Amino acid sequence: MTIGIIGAMDEEVEILLSQLKLERVQVKANMKFNFGQLYNSKAVVVRSGIGKVNSAVCAQILIDDFNADTIINVGVAGGTADNVYPGDVVIADSLVQHDVDTSAFGDKIGQIPRMDTYDFKCDRALVEKAQDACKKIENINSFVGRIVTGDQFISSAEKIKHLNRDFNALACEMEGGSIAQVAYLNDIPFVIIRSISDNANNGASMDYKKFAPIAIRNSTEILKNMLINL
Ligand code: ADE
Repeated sequence: MTIGIIGAMDEEVEILLSQLKLERVQVKANMKFNFGQLYNSKAVVVRSGIGKVNSAVCAQILIDDFNADTIINVGVAGGTADNVYPGDVVIADSLVQHDVDTSAFGDKIGQIPRMDTYDFKCDRALVEKAQDACKKIENINSFVGRIVTGDQFISSAEKIKHLNRDFNALACEMEGGSIAQVAYLNDIPFVIIRSISDNANNGASMDYKKFAPIAIRNSTEILKNMLINL
């Protein structure tokens, strides 16, 4: 088993890299793939860069060049449900790309035209393992539900309302949905684990700066607990 672990930003993979028993580094598409042992699992840890294209390219390289047979994405997200606050964790059970819009042809917003699925579903067993890992950590509120992805940093109350109402989203971010699409196309099990850094409202960028470090620690700790018990 080789687990591909993607974080979008340096801060999101920093702790993981410090724990990785590094065996080999390979650079492709301007991304540094760090191969080694992470808490007794064979893993490749990589910073994809921000957004859907970067993360999709990264996921496909993990599958093609490193034979990753499981993909886990960790990082931060904006909370889009009323009861989801900074520091909380959202484990995705499904992902939708909220910025896909071919409604002119009668498609639902988020539907990728001519694909046989509307949402990309995370692997049940990985979701359960992530939930178990959360339970082992004190003082973490965790949720399982939909995360939505788009090439936008959300910072408006109107937009959150739309994401929550139209997609039933608990959180929004900028990479999970495209990683999910690549994993789906390649039939690879995956899970997206995000910790909340802001509430995607007017104060989002300020909250983000304050809470992102705490949120990153939370999602990294969950991944650690998950890998130890994998
Ligand atoms: N990642 C963290 N917070 C976010 C937000 N508000 N919108 C999109 N991605 C995010």
